[in-house]
Amino acid sequence: MAIDDHRPFREMLEERKIIICVGSGGVGKTTSSAVLGLQAATAGLKVLVLTIDPARRLANSLGIDAIGSERQKISMEQFEKVGLHPKGEMWAMMLDMKESFDRLVQRDAPDEETGREILENRFYHYFSTSVAGTQEYAASERLYDLYVEGEFDLIVLDTPPTTHALDFLEAPERMVDAVSSRALQWMYKPGVLSGTPRRGILSVGTSYVTRTLGKFTGGELLEELSTFLRTFSTLFEGFEQRARAVRELLASEETGFLVVTAPDTLTVEEALFFYDRLDGEELNVDGFIVNRVHPQWVGAEELDRRPSELADRLSALGRSAQLEESAQLDMEALAQGLRENAQQFQLRADQDAGSIVKMSEELPGELPIMCVPYFNEDIHSLDGLDVARRELFGEAAGADCAQ
Ligand SMILES: Nc1ncnc2c1ncn2[C@@H]1O[C@H](COP(=O)(O)OP(=O)(O)OP(=O)(O)O)[C@@H](O)[C@H]1O
Ligand SMILES: [Mg+2]
Repeated sequence: MAIDDHRPFREMLEERKIIICVGSGGVGKTTSSAVLGLQAATAGLKVLVLTIDPARRLANSLGIDAIGSERQKISMEQFEKVGLHPKGEMWAMMLDMKESFDRLVQRDAPDEETGREILENRFYHYFSTSVAGTQEYAASERLYDLYVEGEFDLIVLDTPPTTHALDFLEAPERMVDAVSSRALQWMYKPGVLSGTPRRGILSVGTSYVTRTLGKFTGGELLEELSTFLRTFSTLFEGFEQRARAVRELLASEETGFLVVTAPDTLTVEEALFFYDRLDGEELNVDGFIVNRVHPQWVGAEELDRRPSELADRLSALGRSAQLEESAQLDMEALAQGLRENAQQFQLRADQDAGSIVKMSEELPGELPIMCVPYFNEDIHSLDGLDVARRELFGEAAGADCAQ
């Protein structure tokens, strides 16, 4: 069984240029991305962790608290403060999707003036923040640019919580569909709808819209729409070609996907769905991370002990702590409560182990599945990330969680 064999995860970091963490909301995608980054840096790579909306305290410890910030190198000083000495470099960047889209406009507009006109336009603002998939598209292009720049040995990409599975992945294609759809085309391409010969950029369609809607919404707004369509259409040509390049990169050997999941049955089901989708599109799935697994904590023989035995041990503890007789609790009741608590915990641990084994049976045998325990506090610092890193990459004692 491929559960907790750490080798493939280590090899993945060496072989891939891009690793993308996908999964349902809140399962630990951002945390896992940072942990993978830390491992890559520990192994001597120059790695960039591209995160989306990290929790504030984690962002602070990665040095990326400013939205839209550029890539930031985590200083050796920060690592050394918590006793870490990575051989490589860890960089982090907050991927601001809106800013990524603006950047794309600035880069691809035919001239500065047109670029500015687009950015200042209210329809552009709506398009770039509210139309499904546009931001994801811009983000995937940004990833592509960073990859092409070739500055990093590895880029780890965190993905946003998506209501629709894999929005991020589908974004390039959706974008191409959106810009090439008839609905949009007839507004900016001459003659598409009416079959009339070319008559300039805004043809019959748009002027009809302008005339009709103008009565209701005011000429100014429509003027702005015209400007948007005229200027924004200058960008469309490159979209299709670049979207194809992005898609090819995501499907190439350079890129690997990791599915992050929680161990409960429902989330595992979603994770298997993610896997099927990725695999169905012939993308490389390198493994699963099962995060927040309840560890096997108390052995069965402990749970089988009689409460009176536990009560005796608690009394002994009380005596050694020199508790006054009056301060002594009802040890029998306390022992009973503790035992019930441990049984509940054990039940969760057994359920988790069961659902991980079941999940592994639905996946190809060679696919690695790695577990990270449920820690008793959030992971928001470099040393917290390092504890998770040791679990994930096999340096922690007793890392196995599915037995
Ligand atoms: N193994 C763990 N044990 C305890 N806490 C954890 C563990 N993994 C992650 N967390 C905490 O759970 C919270 C959610 O994790 P994270 O932000 O990485 O999830 P996410 O999948 O990126 O969420 P979203 O879908 O909202 O982006 C964070 O506060 C994180 O510190
Ligand atoms: Mg996240």
